[in-house]
Amino acid sequence: MKFIFTIALFVFASLPALVLISFKEEAGIKIKPKPIKFIIPPGWPKPAKDIFAQNKLTEEGFALGKKLFYDGNLSLDGQTSCGSCHQQFAAFSTFDHDLSHGIGNSFTERNAPALFNLAWMPALHWDGGINHIEVQPLSPMTAHNEMGETLANILIKIKSDSSYRRLFKNAFSSPTITSEKLLKALAQFTGSLVSANSRYDQFKEGKIKFTGAEEKGYQIYKTSCASCHPEPLFTDYTYRNTGMDLNRFNDVGRQRITNSGSDSLKFKVPSLRNVQYTAPYMHDGRFNSLDMVINHYRNMNKELPSIDPGLRNMRPVSEKEKQFLIYFLYTLTDTSFTKNKRFAPDRPILLKH
Ligand code: HEC
Ligand code: HEC
Repeated sequence: MKFIFTIALFVFASLPALVLISFKEEAGIKIKPKPIKFIIPPGWPKPAKDIFAQNKLTEEGFALGKKLFYDGNLSLDGQTSCGSCHQQFAAFSTFDHDLSHGIGNSFTERNAPALFNLAWMPALHWDGGINHIEVQPLSPMTAHNEMGETLANILIKIKSDSSYRRLFKNAFSSPTITSEKLLKALAQFTGSLVSANSRYDQFKEGKIKFTGAEEKGYQIYKTSCASCHPEPLFTDYTYRNTGMDLNRFNDVGRQRITNSGSDSLKFKVPSLRNVQYTAPYMHDGRFNSLDMVINHYRNMNKELPSIDPGLRNMRPVSEKEKQFLIYFLYTLTDTSFTKNKRFAPDRPILLKH
């Protein structure tokens, strides 16, 4: 009884505040969005781009971006959201698929990269063809083998959903829905995806110790892999030719952007963080396991004139060392990121299998 009374009292007491808030909203009085400080993990370099300089990161902007990221209405079939291809439990890559499903029976021609630490990335996509996180979504939204929509149609659909009016107003202090705000909100969500709390990070902070096998793997990584996949981001974001054959899509990688023959078959070095969850690997997902990736580095043709000098001179990894190396790569798994509720959809979404 006392309990019910307390609740009743609480509801009664908070009524004026509730009335005031709704009154403020009705009257168009601006409720200030709550700023979020973008934290650079200790020991990390400055991000390549200050992506939140012209796009102030706020709780409300992030919340809107998250809703958009998981909203199938941004696609022609109403089902192909960003999150249908970029799945959180796979560090926002497509789990278990070399290529991802777009609308209808379409497929992408490249493997969906994991999404995290994007502020440190000087350019996006496997060939670096997109230079800003705010324009990036235009590519999947309009691609016939991804979301297949037009920006105009997306805006019509978003505008007809009254919940969006409130979210846009909360995030940008005015209910007008524009493509610029939509892209800014999406960037607030994707730019906030920071993964920096793996066992490796805890080891670096002195919180845990590596096992003997992990420590051995770490040393092998340092001598054979760190030149292109350096700590702490585990990539230097350069474009390299790793001696792989041209695939059936004639994907020449970086050459598509620069038109220079010397960039043929160069692809962006991906981060090794969360690599336990981002299989299949490489730009077209041609390798299903880390074992296969390392075997590629062991067996590639080092005589190819186009192969990256870093690989030609790479200290080879022995069969025995391979397993230690994989143990080390597993320490880069950050489950506090892949299971972080803050990044998860509010309701289950359709994943394409
Ligand atoms: C049909 C699957 C699919 C959908 C839907 C999709 N993506 Fe992607 N995404 C990909 C693929 C494949 C790539 C690699 C493209 C390339 O390199 O040419 C990619 C690349 C990216 C990148 C660059 C990452 C990097 O490491 O360079 C970002 C950021 C991204 N997507 C965000 C989004 C957002 C935001 C949406 C929704 C508006 C979205 N994606 C929708 C498959 C998808
Ligand atoms: C000369 C630079 C270079 C060196 C050295 C190098 N890599 Fe890579 N790595 C790359 C590039 C470039 C790619 C992407 C290739 C592609 O997609 O075509 C890549 C891709 C990978 C991937 C796939 C990740 C994903 O998400 O798809 C893994 C795993 C990997 N490398 C592990 C290693 C390991 C382990 C070593 C050391 C034995 C190593 N790399 C050494 C440049 C390098």
